[in-house]
Amino acid sequence: MSKASPPVVFITGATSGIGYQTALQLAVKDFEVIFTGRNEQKVRATLDALQTVNPRREHRGYVAELTLVKEAERLANQLLRDLVRLDVIISNSGAVYTRRQETSEGLEYTFALNHMAPFVLVRRLIPLLRQNGGGRVVMVSSHSHYSARLDLDDLQAKKGYSALRQYANTKMMNILFANALDRRYGQEGIRANSLHPGVVRTGIGYKHSHIPGRVAWWLFTRFKGISVEAGARTPVFLATAPDGIEKGGKYYSNCREKQPHPLVLNLNLQEALWARSETIEQEIMSK
Ligand SMILES: NC(=O)c1ccc[n+]([C@@H]2O[C@H](COP(=O)([O-])OP(=O)(O)OC[C@H]3O[C@@H](n4cnc5c(N)ncnc54)[C@H](OP(=O)(O)O)[C@@H]3O)[C@@H](O)[C@H]2O)c1
Repeated sequence: MSKASPPVVFITGATSGIGYQTALQLAVKDFEVIFTGRNEQKVRATLDALQTVNPRREHRGYVAELTLVKEAERLANQLLRDLVRLDVIISNSGAVYTRRQETSEGLEYTFALNHMAPFVLVRRLIPLLRQNGGGRVVMVSSHSHYSARLDLDDLQAKKGYSALRQYANTKMMNILFANALDRRYGQEGIRANSLHPGVVRTGIGYKHSHIPGRVAWWLFTRFKGISVEAGARTPVFLATAPDGIEKGGKYYSNCREKQPHPLVLNLNLQEALWARSETIEQEIMSK
């Protein structure tokens, strides 16, 4: 790893909310920020903001619709061509979908965006971390994972859909994936951790929601929420502090290690989710 060149972070979903603030705070800390968004205008605006806070670095934004496995794969291939260095991956993009709907690839939206996108992207980018002599993967999960009811035979909630339950399930998948990654690559100095950013006043509860859901989110975050600046603290901590590279397979909240739901430590579950996700990915890629 060249100590002369600046550290490089890749963040998904940096066009608003926690990802946007994380990108800005890391740019201030002299990171070169590579990020994604789904909207071209917002990607351009984010890039302008990053160049303003740190014009010394060559930040780059990519447009990708991450509910599609093939888009995640296309983006990964593009990054493998464009980047010569990568130190940290922050998998942050995510959403809550009030109604059950399927993407053009036939996946339930929450599962597709919150789990399959990072599953496809992060695995493909591991060689970039490896070629750098190691690196960090930070999965932005949620406290809601404690209320998950994961059914490996119904990952896409076909049997019955509850938006909050499916969201919680995918957030548990984030931790299972981080822990499985850490076991696979920790020996090579590639450490993966996951986190809860806090209840943060972002637009996540408004984007794919009906009016009662939006009102509930507004009330909840108005009285219980923290600012986006505060919400970025734990991702920034894991990207920069010694903890994020010395330890792996850990869950953090408020910049401190916290006991996650015991299920995420279950190796069989980690591996079963990995195998099923791989099968889903292969089925889509073969079409
Ligand atoms: N807010 C909270 O209280 C809270 C609590 C626990 C965990 N989290 C987690 O924190 C992460 C960030 O959430 P947030 O609250 O900051 O939400 P947010 O403000 O809605 O930001 C989400 C980011 O993901 C992008 N995104 C959404 N759908 C996408 C898609 N289909 N394809 C590509 N990118 C997409 C968004 O793009 P646009 O800007 O175009 O919308 C945005 O950049 C999520 O993983 C969430 O689960 C949040």
